[in-house]
Amino acid sequence: MSMDSSKLILLLFSASLFFTAASSIGINYGQIANNLPHPEAVVPLVKSIDATRLKLYDADPRVLKAFANTGVEFIVGLGNEYLATMRDPKQAQAWVKTNVQCYLPATKITCIAVGNEVLTFNDSTLASNLLPAMENIHAALVSLNLDKQVMVTTAHNLGILEVSYPPSAGAFRRDLTQKLSCILDFHSKVGSPFLVNAYPFFAYRANPKQIPLDFVLFEGSGIVDTGSGLHYDNMFHAQIDAVHSAIEKVGYKNVCLQISETGWPSKGDADEAGATLDNARKYNGNLLKLIAEKKGTPMRPNLNLNIYVFALFNENQKPGPTSERNFGLFKPDGTPVYNLGFNVTGLASTNSPSSGGSSGGTMPSVSAPPNGYLSITADDAERLPFRGPLSVFCLMVSTILALWL
Ligand SMILES: *[C@@H]1O[C@H](CO)[C@@H](O)[C@H](O)[C@H]1NC(C)=O
Ligand SMILES: *[C@@H]1O[C@H](CO)[C@@H](O)[C@H](O)[C@H]1NC(C)=O
Repeated sequence: MSMDSSKLILLLFSASLFFTAASSIGINYGQIANNLPHPEAVVPLVKSIDATRLKLYDADPRVLKAFANTGVEFIVGLGNEYLATMRDPKQAQAWVKTNVQCYLPATKITCIAVGNEVLTFNDSTLASNLLPAMENIHAALVSLNLDKQVMVTTAHNLGILEVSYPPSAGAFRRDLTQKLSCILDFHSKVGSPFLVNAYPFFAYRANPKQIPLDFVLFEGSGIVDTGSGLHYDNMFHAQIDAVHSAIEKVGYKNVCLQISETGWPSKGDADEAGATLDNARKYNGNLLKLIAEKKGTPMRPNLNLNIYVFALFNENQKPGPTSERNFGLFKPDGTPVYNLGFNVTGLASTNSPSSGGSSGGTMPSVSAPPNGYLSITADDAERLPFRGPLSVFCLMVSTILALWL
């Protein structure tokens, strides 16, 4: 395809997408694969689906360079294997200089995710390194005068919840409550969001006989939370509000919640209920509609969730069940796995297979929450006293986030 025709097509897409999806899409760009296109070839693909935010699991220089001057915003990842090193403030500063500062301002890095799903690894050493690493990375940003433009956070697995149903009963795992309170305190002080990976698919896969498929695919009539009286027409919102309840219970209602991963696999093993092409198309299609409508949750109708879909590509080197390698919206050749209604430009002609994933071994661990979504614990959640003072941080964060869009 010649330059001119591809530009023309891009223009046409931009015009049509202006009407169809005025809201911005965030996508996880995982790279645990040996057949992905060069990041430069991925730029037009990302643009053609109107994605304006990407999340990486590392700070891959090839990606960060390729997306310079594109306007696309990045969450970069600092892998779990570096957390211990980041206890040293000098190392934290060196990391920020090499992996963030040197790409600014051409590449719009707006957030650093320190560690991924750390607390649900149940590794006490790793867990105890998390907050000090976040604090040191933040301190490094302050010393480099970058803390106003780059936020510091970490992404959690939904398994941090002990109670997730009904949403109003949502509560953190008791053994993690202390750590999560300290992390929330950090967010509250620096004004950064709390990130959760939320997968209705895992809840459904674990319990397909009990959970109605249409409820997880955004197509059911829904349920009423007897605790709050709120109506939920889909499980995704129910999961998110369970986290809201858990956050509120420890006194940090002011901290904003964002969804760092959600998605649905287009293929799975025989025992992976729900993992089909049609369900993936329905889930992600309906999710994109939700994003376009800028719809919040029943508990927070006005909240911009800043959802990041998982994932851009199918990743052929991810371990685990077949579903793990089939969460992508696109195949490695840039063709859509299923039709989501996008007019996809595809890959740039510079397309050549990359030499392999640069993810540095950090897996975007897409693992099931340890307890099924519908598990209801016998004892009511302990209601801890409301600790955090109401502050304007959430408002500030919302404003900053609104400006991102
Ligand atoms: C894609 O292109 C077709 C034909 O050009 C057009 O009718 C349709 O509205 C476009 N869809 C989107 C989502 O832009
Ligand atoms: C971590 O601990 C929780 C609670 O004890 C358990 O349910 C979960 O399966 C454990 N997760 C892993 C990855 O070992």
